[in-house]
Amino acid sequence: MDKIVIHGGRRLKGEVRVSGAKNSALPLLFATLLAPGVHRIANVPDLRDITTVEKLLTTLGAEVVRENGTFTVDASAIESIEAPYDLVRTMRASVLVLGPLLARLGHARVSLPGGCAIGARPINLHLKGLEAMGAKITLDHGYVEAHAKRLHGARILFDMPTVGGTENLMMAAALAKGTTVLENAACEPEIIELGEALTKMGARIEGAGTDSITIEGVDELTPLEHAVMPDRIEAGTFMIASAITRGDVLVTGTVASHLEALIIKLREAGAEIIEEAGGLRVRGPRKINSVDIKTRPHPGFPTDMQAQFMALMALGTGTSMITENVFENRFMHVCELQRMGADISIEGHTATVKGVKGLLGAPVMATDLRASASLILAGLAADHTTEVSRIYHLDRGYERIEEKLKRLGADIERVPE
Ligand code: UD1
Repeated sequence: MDKIVIHGGRRLKGEVRVSGAKNSALPLLFATLLAPGVHRIANVPDLRDITTVEKLLTTLGAEVVRENGTFTVDASAIESIEAPYDLVRTMRASVLVLGPLLARLGHARVSLPGGCAIGARPINLHLKGLEAMGAKITLDHGYVEAHAKRLHGARILFDMPTVGGTENLMMAAALAKGTTVLENAACEPEIIELGEALTKMGARIEGAGTDSITIEGVDELTPLEHAVMPDRIEAGTFMIASAITRGDVLVTGTVASHLEALIIKLREAGAEIIEEAGGLRVRGPRKINSVDIKTRPHPGFPTDMQAQFMALMALGTGTSMITENVFENRFMHVCELQRMGADISIEGHTATVKGVKGLLGAPVMATDLRASASLILAGLAADHTTEVSRIYHLDRGYERIEEKLKRLGADIERVPE
């Protein structure tokens, strides 16, 4: 297994372009299951999770051709309705086949994802919504079996905003009979993009991006032509990379409105952020102010940026309180940051980060996707050498991050272990 070796202390400078958004590409690729014909999706990042989707679509019978970031998916002949355990356990988002398969074919069998490093992450709200739309759902040897002759519209109130649940039900409702209203829906930019894509396919959707989405079901949909939006979490990670190294980096291809909460918090931390024609320029502060964050569903501070922001706060001049409200166990990076000299204590959902003067490189282990990014950021700022192992987590969500950081001047290398 590869590891990443960083010799810290270099200021990052230059320009970096963000790739297509993983969390948008995933539902868009699954949306191809809704309509027979040939779909074309461009700007798909080259990531391990995307390869998992490719395998899953192929297992279901779709023909997938992948060329320079463009996926051509022929979803005319869907022969299987089963998402097997082997694929779902490597990527929870595989449960997003449930809505499309059920809506188009009336039957789906999807392995239950089980737990993961950042918490239990159940899919009860996806299932409750589908049941309200008329699906019969049973559990069989670790698989969810769902049947419905044709789903019907329903009024669904999510107990909490769920990104995947909102996406699954939007896709299911697009082909259901009648009107579905999703209340307390997730408002993330990825939901807006899925709404736009489904609309291009002939769906009738209003309110995507607000907490109330109305979907008027149609009898059939047509193939999708679409380019995936830029990855806001990758962009945010490079912004913090610049801030933590006192760098001067222009992050191009970003959408500033997707990053508002992070921009506010980085400015409070002392970073200079300038919106330029090509993207966002981030200049790191001489001294990092310690600021508090609380993660919340969009437009709040994203949980997917919490670990990276904590790396920055580890070097703050005071004390920062970081509260994780979205996932119950998302502080796995803390122990690893402590090994590098960070002063962090956890009580319940809150981490108290007392800034230290410097971090010291150490061998550390990635525990999940965003935790890996946090350790890389810490390594960029630390003295001496940091070795991050188990980087398969990183490859799930960041496209060649070490090459991009290297071009910005980081001393970073991927080495086979
Ligand atoms: C998506 C993102 C992930 C991000 C998360 C929150 C993708 C592929 N992944 O994950 O990167 O961290 O949103 O922004 O887009 N919940 C339930 N029951 C359910 C569904 C969710 O209790 O049926 C809970 C979860 O355990 C969690 C919260 O709701 O505490 C939010 O989860 P959700 O928004 O569904 O996250 P994902 O869609 O899995």
